[in-house]
Amino acid sequence: MASFIVLLGPPGAGKGTQAEAITTELHLPHISSGDIFRENLKNQTELGKLAAGFINKGELVPDDVTIAMVQERLSQPDCQTGALLDGFPRTPAQAEALTSILSGIQGQVKSVPYISVPENVLIDRLTGRWTCRNAGHIFHEKYNPSQVPGKCDFDGSELYQREDDKSETVKHRIRVYLKQTQPLIEYYRQKSVLAEVDGTKSIKQVTDDLLAVIKRNGNE
Ligand code: AP5
Ligand code: MG
Repeated sequence: MASFIVLLGPPGAGKGTQAEAITTELHLPHISSGDIFRENLKNQTELGKLAAGFINKGELVPDDVTIAMVQERLSQPDCQTGALLDGFPRTPAQAEALTSILSGIQGQVKSVPYISVPENVLIDRLTGRWTCRNAGHIFHEKYNPSQVPGKCDFDGSELYQREDDKSETVKHRIRVYLKQTQPLIEYYRQKSVLAEVDGTKSIKQVTDDLLAVIKRNGNE
């Protein structure tokens, strides 16, 4: 049975930052629905243009579009033994769809670490975030600065501030999260796969705490 990890947490909790560290350590594919949408937007695909209308307002992209996109990604050969999902599922309908997609590839959600961070910290993190244009590497002007300002440490590409990281949009994204995504905490708790991790600690400490809960749930 292939094991999948779902990283839960509000916007700015550190899902992308931690997903990068964990998938490198565990040699798993990192599937970020937000990154796939942004890649599509960069390439000006129809999907990218459609998604941008929702993303830039801080709204969720409709379930049918998002589910079809993730289903396609999960059908790739590199996901046959498992993967880490970052930013999906984000609604109860997406969670149900995930269970059914995974059952079709003999997979299951084994571990759902929930990175908890209070709202005032989230706003500070997102309004100070800088993202790499080429591959989405993540920095923060105060908490994780790049060595050369404005340039990615990993591939030298330009760093930019996401359109949806403006303070008003961030506040709206948090409201959307509380209404539509927060119920998944209880959903996965009831399935006995949820583990809460304090996301206010250092990046390295949060990585260690996440790896500990993932290993406890049998994903290695
Ligand atoms: P998405 O890209 O998934 O954004 P998000 O969930 O809002 O989360 P973020 O990427 O903003 O935050 P993160 O938790 O990854 O934090 P990060 O590691 O960057 O989605 C964007 C949009 O796409 C959605 O609004 C929606 O429109 C659409 N979408 C995506 N998935 C969808 C779905 N399933 N259904 C429908 N629509 C969907 O860290 C943030 C900052 O904090 C960084 O600067 C980082 O350096 C810093 N930081 C991280 N950890 C720490 C730490 N421990 N201490 C100090 N600073 C830290
Ligand atoms: Mg992210």
